[in-house]
Amino acid sequence: MSIKNALKTHLPGFLKTPAQSLWQRWRATTTSWDRSISTGSPRSSGFYYFAINTSFDREHRGVAAGKARFARDLTEASRSSFRLRRNIHRLEKGLIMPNRRSIFALDYIVPTVDDFARVVSAYEEGTDAGSELIWAHDVLSDYFDAVDLSHPRLNECHQKFLAARSRFERCARRANRRFVPFARDLTVEPATIDQLTALSVRRRSVRSYQDRPVPRDMVDKAIAVAAQSPSACNRQPFVFRLFDDRELVQKIISLPAGTKGFGNGVPAVAVIVGRLRAYPLERDRHIIYIDGSLAAMSFMFALESMGIASCAINWADEEPAESNMKALLNLDDDERVVMLIAYGWPEPTGLVPFSAKRDLEELREFNIL
Ligand SMILES: Cc1cc2nc3c(=O)[nH]c(=O)nc-3n(C[C@H](O)[C@H](O)[C@H](O)COP(=O)(O)O)c2cc1C
Repeated sequence: MSIKNALKTHLPGFLKTPAQSLWQRWRATTTSWDRSISTGSPRSSGFYYFAINTSFDREHRGVAAGKARFARDLTEASRSSFRLRRNIHRLEKGLIMPNRRSIFALDYIVPTVDDFARVVSAYEEGTDAGSELIWAHDVLSDYFDAVDLSHPRLNECHQKFLAARSRFERCARRANRRFVPFARDLTVEPATIDQLTALSVRRRSVRSYQDRPVPRDMVDKAIAVAAQSPSACNRQPFVFRLFDDRELVQKIISLPAGTKGFGNGVPAVAVIVGRLRAYPLERDRHIIYIDGSLAAMSFMFALESMGIASCAINWADEEPAESNMKALLNLDDDERVVMLIAYGWPEPTGLVPFSAKRDLEELREFNIL
């Protein structure tokens, strides 16, 4: 119970008013201290958030847990590696350069081949190779075809790659296509701007749904669209945790503050969880939110294109909701909720807020310094 509520509940009536005014004066004083300490200088704000205000604790604990997990993951056989994804992406960028050099990626090719060997070692012989493994294999093959193997480090890495590759060749490969840089087929018609505008105008945050399940294969189609979203170095550091069991949905949807009044009618919810284990450095701590949100938007557009409505739901970093969500979803320390998305078939007669959008002139500026 907060001090304010304790005073309200336990004090005798005649003391309540003076106590409340004392409390308000104290809050005003501490708020002004807060403001001056927290905005004084980087050092004083560091002190403030270290000694007085603990709001950032979970964030930096998450970042630290992510760094530790990143390092640990590099020691274990696993079918996926965030470092491998990043480095294969870098190799592809090197391969598409117009004036490609005969020696490039010298500073990261050693860990890239090590990671490839580690990922392939997690596969039993004869099992289907996953997309990440095929992509890494194909790009590394093209890389070693392209570079000057007389360089001793490249030569050594090439030998290691060939050894690991023999294990890859004992896996089944379902995809016929090679997963390497390609020229896009620009004759395929994309959605027109009119269609895209119509979809964007039709999508609204919907808060009244029919009591009717959304087929999972339709949700999978929307996830497949979300998966095509851009992500920093193609790491895709998130997972969509989907819930369509009525009881579980209710447990989850009651945790964020923004579902009051409509949460009990939500038939399904996606929780987008970011994984800080994708990064060895603090500088990248915001990418889970950027990548997770880009995927979220694609997901909502894809749902809408199939007639399924949705509503993004804010996830605030505050107790007790954080602890409850962590326990309920069994989240690791580096896993942070990016946002929730309620989804379902819209109630046809349900109203949606108008939600006027800011005018074009307010939203964009060209060449203004
Ligand atoms: C990150 C984010 C968090 C949101 N959180 C909530 C929420 O907690 N509760 C809610 O009812 N709507 C929430 N919304 C929906 C917004 O209220 C809505 O997008 C906005 O009012 C514009 O309306 P529109 O989506 O229909 O265009 C959220 C939207 C976003 C993008």
